[in-house]
Amino acid sequence: MNSFSRSILDWYRENGRDLPWRRTRDPYAVWLSEIILQQTRIAQGKAYWERFMERFPTVDSLAAADEDAVLRLWEGLGYYSRARNLHAAAKQIVALGGFPQTLEGIRALKGVGDYTAAAIGSICFGIPAAVVDGNVYRVLARHFGIATPVGTTEAKKEFTHLAQQLLPEEDPAGFNQGMMDFGAIQCTPQNPACDACPLRSTCNAFKTGRVELLPVKKPQNKPVERHLSYIYVRYNGQTVIRKRPAGDIWAGLYEPLYIEASAGPAAEENYFSCGGSKNQFSSAIAMRTHADASMKCLRTSIKHQLTHRTLIADFYLWEPETQPELPEGYFWIKETELDRYAKPRLFELLLESL
Ligand code: ADE
Repeated sequence: MNSFSRSILDWYRENGRDLPWRRTRDPYAVWLSEIILQQTRIAQGKAYWERFMERFPTVDSLAAADEDAVLRLWEGLGYYSRARNLHAAAKQIVALGGFPQTLEGIRALKGVGDYTAAAIGSICFGIPAAVVDGNVYRVLARHFGIATPVGTTEAKKEFTHLAQQLLPEEDPAGFNQGMMDFGAIQCTPQNPACDACPLRSTCNAFKTGRVELLPVKKPQNKPVERHLSYIYVRYNGQTVIRKRPAGDIWAGLYEPLYIEASAGPAAEENYFSCGGSKNQFSSAIAMRTHADASMKCLRTSIKHQLTHRTLIADFYLWEPETQPELPEGYFWIKETELDRYAKPRLFELLLESL
């Protein structure tokens, strides 16, 4: 075995994190952990993994659940397509008669990409497939002095090839998890612990004073901004929500009256004002003619960052005197029933500001 991989395995044996999904080889439990950890830090993900394992201890129980129940349990983790894919993949697994045991089979599950397939395959079945993520890029870029900008197809090819070459056949699970933990604990993005690093003597970045300069990142495109308003309607102890349609952010989650400012000129009557700013009503919202004097502004210009867009949101409370007709797709519920519905974080924020 090469000395780099030997060091990673030795380091992992000494310093690897004790995580609940590392005490099992049940592919369902490991798969669940990997989906949760795709965009979530371990500290937060652990509690969700435990809750899921308790509520849905087997893939059959997850497959048999209502999508709403799955989304509800996922609430707060964000990136809800992960939860929808998780549920769809559970049904795929049940239809297959069991968890797939080859890399291609695992990779064919909804929501499973190269990284997740390699992680599950190596951990559960000893398949020699290297994981490549931000941690792996950083460790390899520094140790081997690679300046190819991360985020390019060239980098993906180069780093995947290198990680695969380094992967020891006798312990792919230990090496992959060692790389994850080494990147998260030792070779961190900021202030890496070079003084106490077992790979210091062979680290190219350390030798050449480039630890802070590697890995090189591709310049990011500026995230797109979207401006939206949420109107919380209160009438007779009831409020209005809808299920968000497929094909956009938060698909399948529930939200109050939603208005998104579209580009281009709009008629003056399509505006109402809040905190000095003008807000555009979508013409799809039939109730705009009522919604002025009884509309109360709760908060304005709340910034909410998603991966590829910045949302700028305003919150309103509208307490109409007569029961308004609802735009298509919306329905009334008792306010006391709100906690039965999975909501985007922004809706939770609105409820907190009520
Ligand atoms: N991040 C993604 N998968 C992980 C795992 N299995 N262990 C630690 N961190 C991870």
